[in-house]
Amino acid sequence: MPRRLLVTSALPYANGAIHLGHLVEYVQTDIWVRFQKMRGEEVHYVCADDTHGTPIMLRAEKEGISPEALIARVYGEHTRDFAGFHVGFDNYHTTHSPETQALANDIYLKLAGAGLIEVRSVEQFYDPVKAMFLPDRYIKGECPKCGARDQYGDSCEVCGSAYTPTDLVAPYSVVSGAKPVRKSSDHYFFRLSDARCQAFLKRWTRSGTLQPEAANKLDEWFHQGLADWDISRDAPYFGFEIPNAPGKYFYVWLDAPIGYLGAFRNLAARRGLDFDAWVRAPAAGDDGIEMVHFIGKDILYFHALFWPAELEMAGYRTPAKVFAHGFLTVNGEKMSKSRGTFITAASYLGLGLNPEWLRYYYAAKLGPTMEDIDLNLEDFVARVNADLVGKFVNIASRTAGFITKRFGGRLAAPRHPLLGQIQAAAPRIASLYDEREFGKAVRETMRLADLANQYVDQEKPWDLARQAGDGQRLHEVCTTAINVFRLLTLYLKPVLPKLAADVEAFLRVPPLAWSDAGALLPEGHAIGAYRHLMTRIDPKSIDALVAANRESLQPAPVTAPHSQQRHAEAKVHAEEKHAKPIAEAPAAAAPTISIDEFGKVELRVARIAKAEHVEGADKLIRLTLDLGGETRTVFAGIKSAYDPAALEGRLTVMVANLAPRKMKFGVSEGMVLAASGDGPGIFLIAPDAGAQPGMRVK
Ligand code: 2FM
Ligand code: ZN
Repeated sequence: MPRRLLVTSALPYANGAIHLGHLVEYVQTDIWVRFQKMRGEEVHYVCADDTHGTPIMLRAEKEGISPEALIARVYGEHTRDFAGFHVGFDNYHTTHSPETQALANDIYLKLAGAGLIEVRSVEQFYDPVKAMFLPDRYIKGECPKCGARDQYGDSCEVCGSAYTPTDLVAPYSVVSGAKPVRKSSDHYFFRLSDARCQAFLKRWTRSGTLQPEAANKLDEWFHQGLADWDISRDAPYFGFEIPNAPGKYFYVWLDAPIGYLGAFRNLAARRGLDFDAWVRAPAAGDDGIEMVHFIGKDILYFHALFWPAELEMAGYRTPAKVFAHGFLTVNGEKMSKSRGTFITAASYLGLGLNPEWLRYYYAAKLGPTMEDIDLNLEDFVARVNADLVGKFVNIASRTAGFITKRFGGRLAAPRHPLLGQIQAAAPRIASLYDEREFGKAVRETMRLADLANQYVDQEKPWDLARQAGDGQRLHEVCTTAINVFRLLTLYLKPVLPKLAADVEAFLRVPPLAWSDAGALLPEGHAIGAYRHLMTRIDPKSIDALVAANRESLQPAPVTAPHSQQRHAEAKVHAEEKHAKPIAEAPAAAAPTISIDEFGKVELRVARIAKAEHVEGADKLIRLTLDLGGETRTVFAGIKSAYDPAALEGRLTVMVANLAPRKMKFGVSEGMVLAASGDGPGIFLIAPDAGAQPGMRVK
């Protein structure tokens, strides 16, 4: 009996471009799905745009279009990008669909019927000008600890302290700039703390559904106690209105995972599948259907607590597997717009780079754990060129021509023992794919490619071709090489579907399935003429890619970041905390000051004598500044942008007469000057050459 798999990747928000961080997950899922399909399993791979919530509503408003128009445009962009990277969804839908709405209503009403929905009054910040409640990330103000201006409502980017929006000094709404007021309103809660949910989750967590490190994380959360989940938002909100609750909408995170089921329902209708049998709790035991979610580790809370509990309590099938992956770093660092490493899928494709280069590199790096993976751009070029072009394609490019020219395209009988050795690897490589050990599967395949190349090197077909005689040995050697090439293509097909299709056309064989590893191309089989299958990566094209993605200090159109950039752990009342505001508060027109007032600020050139990490501080670097004799210690919130080692010896400008401030990590005796805009990036100010430590800046 084939397995029956409903597979999903996390739904990207419908207000931002797909970037290389997102693609880790889609490529990972796609490889797994393609492998399962090659094995003959029944697989339905679905995804959708995650279309609801405040950021999308405000983004549309800012662009002067309706949210529906915005999500329709982004849908086009996303589906183009995914197709460009050969992500083969069986259905790519939208959460703004009748299917998702009907399912959300059904699940909600079942939870309400089970006594698991509770209405409570919640007091929150409210923007009196926009007449809307403000999620935490839409409130800024002065840090209550260090006084830094323009800090978000949850934590200070300068001193690193965490707090709630009510602690902010002089808070303002990021949407209108108005001073928010406190206002109460009724909210609907899903009672996760109910004993039924807790008992179920404890069982489910240990049922083999989660990776060990994820199960441990859940234990930690159980230990902290599960809080009820606020699933409603007040109008105005772009989303689905809650049944029997006028003016109240489902919070975007309530309907997002239901969007998996909505996408599947839409597909099931087209494929004539029994939707209910797939998604309702099976009547008796195991019926062989598995719902499998691929996600980023930052959204584990949603997928391993709220989601399974909701499904179970509403009588739906719960996930069989939740596979979480780590984040993507580029050149060892968080993706950054200022460094040009926040690379969009569209820019990669637009510059004509081959999507399978990236698929291969990701595969080579991916494993079954939640560890982060690094895209090192130099290593990317070296590895793809060495493995795919230098090893894999090389096998065919060195031998196929002889078959065509000398033997009319026909193969000899496949006899060499190397073939048996390569065929014997099929079950091992299959297990590696199934276990999401893609790095190992790829390494094993490349080991086999090495064996094949050694064989060709030894046999030297180019020499054999010059020898007199009927060329029987040449025929055999090239036949062996072509058969090996077919087998290795089969092993790499989940990763390189386009290349595999080109090889299938060249070898004149039907689409390769996993079981085809058991057979070889028979004697007399005619192959087509060899055409070049893959070019090398030119390092210059990678430079161009980085340049195309490097953003200047101009404020960039800000989009809600996806999982990949969110290094913070998801929290219960995360409340779109990750979504950046789409409009900054109008930069408060700074009042004019006199030259005397300006003169009160003592700005001096300082040499960074020492720069050190501060233990326990995410954002700070401890700077020892030399003012031309005098030394100061300053804690600067620039860690996200600078490696301390790279700062030592540099000149910068400091405010030398700022009152010393006691911080958690020590006393800060001044401040260094740095520029920042709406986008990421902090840029330290440096004087022109010739300036000396201690000089006054006026
Ligand atoms: O983190 C995100 O980008 C969300 N849009 C993922 C949603 S996944 C699922 F629950 F729909
Ligand atoms: Zn602070």
